[in-house]
Amino acid sequence: MKTLGLLLVIALALAGSLAVDRNNFKTCEQSGFCKRLRALKPEKSQYSLNLDTVIVHGNVLTAEVNTVDTETEKRIVLWNYALKLSALVDGTFRVELDEADPLYPRYRTMLALDGEPKADGLKLVSNEKGVVTVANSQGHKVLITAEPLRLEFLDLDGQLAVLLNGNSQLVVEPLKVKEEGEEGDDNEGARGENFKSHHDSKPRGNEAVSLDVSFPEADHVYGIPEHTDKFSLRTTTAGEPYRLYNLDVFEYELDSRMAIYGAIPVMYAHSAKRTTGVFWHNSAETWVDVVNHAEGNVVSSLVNLVTGGQKKQVDARFMSESGIVDVFVFLGSRPKDVFRQFTRLTGVAPVPPKFSLAYHQSRWNYNDENDVRSVSENFDAHDIPADVLWLDIEYTDRKKYFTWDAEKFPNPLEMVANLSAVGRKLVVIIDPHIKREAGYFLHEDATDNGYYVQDKDGKVYEGWCWPGSSSYLDFFDPRVSKYYAERYLFENFPGTTKDVHHWNDMNEPSVFNGPEITMPKDCRHYKPPQDGHDGLASFWEHRHVHNEYGLWNIRATQQGMLDRASGQYRPFILTRSAFAGTQRYAAVWTGDNAAEWGFLAVSVPMCISMAAAGISFCGSDVGGFFKYPEAELMTRWYQAGAYQPFFRAHSHIETKRREPWLYEPATTALLRDALRRRYALIDYWYTLFYEHSLDGLPVMRPLFQEFPEEEDTFTIDDHYLLGEELLIRPVVEPGVSSVRVYLPGKGAGALWYDVDSYQPHAANGYFTQDVNIAKIPVYQRGGTIIPRKERVRRSSALMANDPYTFVVALDADNKAHGSLYIDDGETYDHKNNKYIYAHIDYEPSGITYSFVNENASYPTRSWVERIVIAGIQAPPKTAKLVQGDKQTALQMTLHKGNDVLVVRKPGASMAQPWKIVFSY
Ligand SMILES: *[C@@H]1O[C@H](CO)[C@@H](O)[C@H](O)[C@H]1NC(C)=O
Ligand SMILES: *[C@@H]1O[C@H](CO)[C@@H](O)[C@H](O)[C@H]1NC(C)=O
Repeated sequence: MKTLGLLLVIALALAGSLAVDRNNFKTCEQSGFCKRLRALKPEKSQYSLNLDTVIVHGNVLTAEVNTVDTETEKRIVLWNYALKLSALVDGTFRVELDEADPLYPRYRTMLALDGEPKADGLKLVSNEKGVVTVANSQGHKVLITAEPLRLEFLDLDGQLAVLLNGNSQLVVEPLKVKEEGEEGDDNEGARGENFKSHHDSKPRGNEAVSLDVSFPEADHVYGIPEHTDKFSLRTTTAGEPYRLYNLDVFEYELDSRMAIYGAIPVMYAHSAKRTTGVFWHNSAETWVDVVNHAEGNVVSSLVNLVTGGQKKQVDARFMSESGIVDVFVFLGSRPKDVFRQFTRLTGVAPVPPKFSLAYHQSRWNYNDENDVRSVSENFDAHDIPADVLWLDIEYTDRKKYFTWDAEKFPNPLEMVANLSAVGRKLVVIIDPHIKREAGYFLHEDATDNGYYVQDKDGKVYEGWCWPGSSSYLDFFDPRVSKYYAERYLFENFPGTTKDVHHWNDMNEPSVFNGPEITMPKDCRHYKPPQDGHDGLASFWEHRHVHNEYGLWNIRATQQGMLDRASGQYRPFILTRSAFAGTQRYAAVWTGDNAAEWGFLAVSVPMCISMAAAGISFCGSDVGGFFKYPEAELMTRWYQAGAYQPFFRAHSHIETKRREPWLYEPATTALLRDALRRRYALIDYWYTLFYEHSLDGLPVMRPLFQEFPEEEDTFTIDDHYLLGEELLIRPVVEPGVSSVRVYLPGKGAGALWYDVDSYQPHAANGYFTQDVNIAKIPVYQRGGTIIPRKERVRRSSALMANDPYTFVVALDADNKAHGSLYIDDGETYDHKNNKYIYAHIDYEPSGITYSFVNENASYPTRSWVERIVIAGIQAPPKTAKLVQGDKQTALQMTLHKGNDVLVVRKPGASMAQPWKIVFSY
C-alpha cells in the first residue's frame, strides 16, 4: 500500500523523480554475517564425513560430520555435526546439517513446507574409498565424498547435475557460550553490531550458515525473488549479492539486487540439457552470490585455472544469519519438473474465488460510503466491468483494524449489500501492527494476554507505524493466531459478510522507526515450552523467523476467513510480504511501485519469478502507486494488467484520481477494451488456476518452461506464456509503433495466431509486430483451444451462465486441445464433485467435449454459442451436434483469406458431454 513519508513524497514529486534512500538499508559489508562469510574463501573445506558413522535407514542416511583443523598434520576434531540426507518423492533430496549437540536448539523454519515431505526409497549402493554412494528409487545417485565433504547429485544418465560444497563454502557457526567480558561492538562482532542508530544485541552470538551449490553445464539460474532485477540472475562478484530479507522499501529502485517485500529462497538452473534446482529452507536474513562462468567478466576461479579456461557452470552461494543448513535438491530434469518439485514441497494455490481473477479497483483511499457507491455506479454508467472495490487504511476508526470510521462508513453492511447486488465484492485492509490506545479492544486483549512480540528484554515491543505507537501480534504463539483468526468472524467484525475479503499489508513487518524499517532482530517470539529450556532457549529471536512473519499473519487470516463461514466460502487474501509457501494462503502484489515505464516493464519479470517460486497469483499496482500515469502509460498498464494474474489498479493518497472514466473518452475506451479482454477470458483464467491446483505449475510462465531446448528463450523475460496457450508481449515502451516479438517453437513447425486477426505466424523466433495504442501483442498457440465469454457484464458473477465461444487454433496436423473448468465460483462444493473439468479435443473428424472425472458434474446453464476454428485447410462440408440422443445439423461460415471457419450456434449445453461430427 504505502510507506512512511508523505512529506518526502511531496518533496520528491516536486523534484520530479523518486529514489530509494539506500542509506536506510544494509549492504553486505554492513551486515555482520554477510561480510564475515563472503570474505571466507577456503581452498579446502574443513568439513569431513566420519565414514564409520554412516547409517542408511528407511529413506534417510545419517552420519557424523566433523570440522577438522587442516593446519596441522594431526587430525584434530574441532566440532561435531549431524548430517541427514533424505530421499523424497519426485526426484527430490533433502540435506540437513545441524550441530550434533547445540547449546540450544537452532531454529528450523516452520511454515514453508506444506506438511512433511513424502519419502522415497533410499538404498546404500557402496561405501568404499572414502565415498558413500546412495540411490533413490528412480535411480538418481548421490555421492558423498568424506574428506573434504562434498555431495554430488547425479542425473539419470549418471552425470553430475548438482554439487554441494564443491567450493568449500559450507559453514555452520557453532553456538558458543558468551565469554566473560566478551564484547565486540563492531560489525564482525560476535556479541552485538550496530546499524545507524540501532544496536542489535545478538544474545546468541554468531550463528550463521552458508553453503555453495554448483550447477554444472547450466546456462542460467533463476529465482530467489523478490528483486527488481532480470529474471535470469546475474553474476554478483562485482557488486552486492542478491538479498532476501522482507523489507518495506520506500520507492524501491529498478534493476536492483536489494531486498524488498518478499523473500523466496528457491533457485533453478537451466540449460537445454537439464533443469535442476535448490530450495534453501531458511527464514533468516539471507544473501545469495551468483557466479555464471559463461559470462565474460567472471574472475576466473581456481577450478577455471585447473580446467583451463571457460566452462559452462553456475555457482551460487547461500548465506543466512541463523538456522541450520537445510537444502532441498531438485533433479528435474525439465523446467516443469523443478517447478512442480518445489510446489510439491511448499504447496499450491487453492482454487481462488472466481471474482478475484477479475478486475479490482483500489485507491488509498475511497473516502466514504458515497465515494464507494459513486465509483461502483460509475463503472456501470461507463459500461466498464469491475468485480471488487478496495478500502485502504482510512476506512478504520483512526487506524484501529477491525473497526470502521463511524462517520465515513456508518452503514458498511448496506454498502456491502449494494455491491453484492451487482455481483461485486469489497476488500478491506487489515495490517498486523496494532494501535497502542487505551480502550481499543485489540490492544487491551493483546496486553492482558501477552499477545505481543517482546523486545530484547522481554517487555512488549513498541514501534511506530500508521497508527503511531504500535505493537505487533506474535502469531507464532498459537493462542495469538487463534485470537487473531477469531477477529475475522462476522460477529467480531460487524459490517463484513462473505463478500468482504482482506488485504494484509505492511507484514514484513514494516516498523517506521525500526532498523531498516522493520523489527529489531533481537525481539522475542514465542517458542513452545520444552523441559529444561529456559533463558535463551525459551524464545526465538526475530532474526530467526523474520522472512516467515508474514506467512504466519496470512495463515491466521485465512483460518479466520474459513471459520467465519463454517468453511463454506473460499477466502481471498492479498499479502505484501511473501515467503516460500505463501501461495497456499494469498495472492501477492509487487508493492509500492510508481507511474513510470520502468515499473510497468519490471512487473513482468517480477511476476514470472514469483510464479516460478510457487506464487502464480501475482500482479503490480496498475497505473503505478506513486505519481500520476498519463494516458499512454495508463493504457499500456491496463493492457498489460489484463493479462497478469492479479489485476488491480491502485494509487497513492496524494495522487490525482484516475478511475478509468476520468481520462479523455478515447483513453477510457481503450481501458474499457483492455478490461473487456480480461472478462472475455475469465473462464480461461479460472481454468488455469484450477489446473495449477492440480499440477503446481506456474500460470504465468517463462517461455523456456514450454520450450526448454530453445536457447533464445532462456533470457526472454519481457514475454511470457499463460498456461500453454497464450503468448503475451505487453507494450512497455512509450511512443512505439512496433515491438520485437519472439515466437518460440522453431523447427517444430509451431504456429502462433494473432488473437485479434487469427492470422497465423510460423514460429521463427523474432519478428516485428506493428502496434498502435489499441494493439496488445497476444498470440494463441497452434494446437490449443481457449474458452471465451463474449457478453461482458458488470461483474464476473453476472456472467456465470453466459454462453461460451471456443477459439480453436489448429496446429500443423489440424489438431487442437483445450480444457475448461466450471464450478459455482465461491464455495468448496467442488471438493464434493460439484464441478466440471472437461477436455475439448479437435480432430479433423470433429470436436468432443468430455468430462475428465465422470463422477463430477455441475448444473451450469451455459451453452455453446460459437466455435471459431482458425487455420483450417480443408473445411468440412457438414457438421452435426450429438448430445445425449439428440442430433442437430449445424450452420457454418467460412471466412476466406484467414482460413477461419465459424460453427454458428451449436447450442450444446455445457452441463453434459457433447460431440460435433464433421463430414467432408
Ligand atoms: C445503497 O443503495 C441505495 C440505492 O441506490 C442507496 O440509496 C443507499 O444510500 C446505498 N447505501 C450505501 C450505504 O451506500
Ligand atoms: C468414480 O466413482 C467410482 C465409483 O465410486 C470410482 O470407482 C471411480 O474411481 C471414480 N472416478 C474418479 C475419476 O474419481
